[in-house]
Amino acid sequence: MKQITAKQLRKMWLDFFSERGHAIISSASLIPENDPTVLFTTAGMHPLVPYLLGAKHPSGNRLCDCQKCVRTGDIDEVGDSSHCTFFEMLGNWSLGDYFKTEMVKWSYEFLTDKKYLALDKNRLAVTVFEGDNDCPRDTATAELWEQCGIKKENIFFLPKKHNWWGPAGVTGPCGSDTEMFIDTGKPKCCENCSPACDCGKYLEIWNDVFMEYNKTADGKYEPLKQKNVDTGMGLERTVAVLNGKKSVYETDLFAPIISEIENLSGKKYGFGEQTDRAIRIVADHTRTATFILGDERGVTPSNVDQGYVLRRLLRRAVRFAGVLEMKGSDLSKVAAAVVDNYREVYPELNQSRDKICAEIDAEVERFEKTLQGGIREFEKLAKYLVGNVVSGKAAFKLYDTYGFPIEMTQELAREHGFTVNIADFEKAFDEHRRKSQAGAEQKFKGGLADNTETVARLHTATHLMHRALKVVLQDENANQKGSNITAERLRFDFSFPRPMTDEEIQKVEDIVNEAIKADVPVVCEEMNVDEARAKGAVGLFAAKYGEKVKVYTMGKYSCEICGGPHAARTGELGRFKIVKEQSSSAGVRRIKAVLETE
Ligand code: ALA
Repeated sequence: MKQITAKQLRKMWLDFFSERGHAIISSASLIPENDPTVLFTTAGMHPLVPYLLGAKHPSGNRLCDCQKCVRTGDIDEVGDSSHCTFFEMLGNWSLGDYFKTEMVKWSYEFLTDKKYLALDKNRLAVTVFEGDNDCPRDTATAELWEQCGIKKENIFFLPKKHNWWGPAGVTGPCGSDTEMFIDTGKPKCCENCSPACDCGKYLEIWNDVFMEYNKTADGKYEPLKQKNVDTGMGLERTVAVLNGKKSVYETDLFAPIISEIENLSGKKYGFGEQTDRAIRIVADHTRTATFILGDERGVTPSNVDQGYVLRRLLRRAVRFAGVLEMKGSDLSKVAAAVVDNYREVYPELNQSRDKICAEIDAEVERFEKTLQGGIREFEKLAKYLVGNVVSGKAAFKLYDTYGFPIEMTQELAREHGFTVNIADFEKAFDEHRRKSQAGAEQKFKGGLADNTETVARLHTATHLMHRALKVVLQDENANQKGSNITAERLRFDFSFPRPMTDEEIQKVEDIVNEAIKADVPVVCEEMNVDEARAKGAVGLFAAKYGEKVKVYTMGKYSCEICGGPHAARTGELGRFKIVKEQSSSAGVRRIKAVLETE
């Protein structure tokens, strides 16, 4: 097999698709905008949902990119050789343009042609959808693969569980897919061995989704207005597989990060499972934390939403740094190695280098203080212990209140000659997890992007308020740090160093209500990002030079780069009211506001 670095694969991908008429678009932020249903961007298609549903994309109907993604799932399971909480997804899209014929042909070409991945076609296996009541059997795709030269015995028909792709939310664009695997040459694990059985014979590298349905809230599959293609290739995983590496941690994406951990800890990777696992956890979590902190919509550690995920990642990294006998304060050095390894592709990381390191140091310090509190609590508890067993309840309190990992409780207990009732701890832990998952799942209920009219109106109000804040606070740097809209309210985070006064809040409300009363049209124009800048549009300028963006203008009241959707006129909004203004994190304020019907 051809050896290939991540850098080469990114470039090869973008070149291949741009030569086939695709516009290269920038990675969107890791923090989804105006989408309260998921905490992070989880796939390349996620920022493109409105376009898959039929909105016109400013760069056209053939797109490709390399998208930053975070999937945290169960953080406590990261540490094996294949799970990463952060990854990059290479993707290409047809928005109602080409469909199966072109996509299968191009996939085959990219995988097997000498100019590209040069894989032996006899070492490829593919899966296609076997069909059910919602969507017919995909014999067309199977035939296309056969015409390319894939042997019949390497084409597997599988059910929805394996060959269907829908977004993280329950509702939204979805469809059957065809997945591509490398056959490692290992013997079949059983008579029915297939890419579905996970025995390690087949390793997935690419997924082409034929997105032609919209799953509605009542579980029906409605045909979409247009037939789309959405594909995804996990960069880390594919580089590992192509280079015959046992794990993603052995690729060039991790090498300098792991080498920095080795320097700081004096431990070597590859000489013992326990140390390797700790190194992988420190490397993975610090890498993800660096990308979350360094995102253009950067988040800082907190007890809610994205900030909470970030906090958990950093605290778990501190704990496993301890296993490696590294200091907590070494983590920011690992983060600096992450920035250096990625700065070319993601310049935003280097721009925020100091902030990333400072935030990590501050969180490590907070955590170490918390731990000291936990140790004191443990000493107290030890004095009154009846028998030599720390109860599961006490261990859970240490975990829950002091952020004290169970392994540390066990370690302390051992030092005192005690044991811990782990079975009871796990019961309490599962109960807690069940409750918090119920909470997390609620976040997904609305589906991916909520496109209702109420949300569009609140989004328009957000733009008006953003501008009004800059005017009233006389601070052009009062920039958006985050936006989250539900059907009930808007929530907006922006940089500003102090609480707003009642008078300032009133003035912002007045300006927004004046704009609503003026009933100006909301005009959307497409232009290059440099033209948008010249026009004075606010917004994220991470977009590449020459990239096309949408600019929404509302009379003299607002001009902002954004993907939409919006109300047609400001007069549709109703009465704007700020219901809360509070601190979100250091230097960032949070406003909650509503639109009341008049
Ligand atoms: N959206 C598809 C995936 O994430 C391509 O696998």
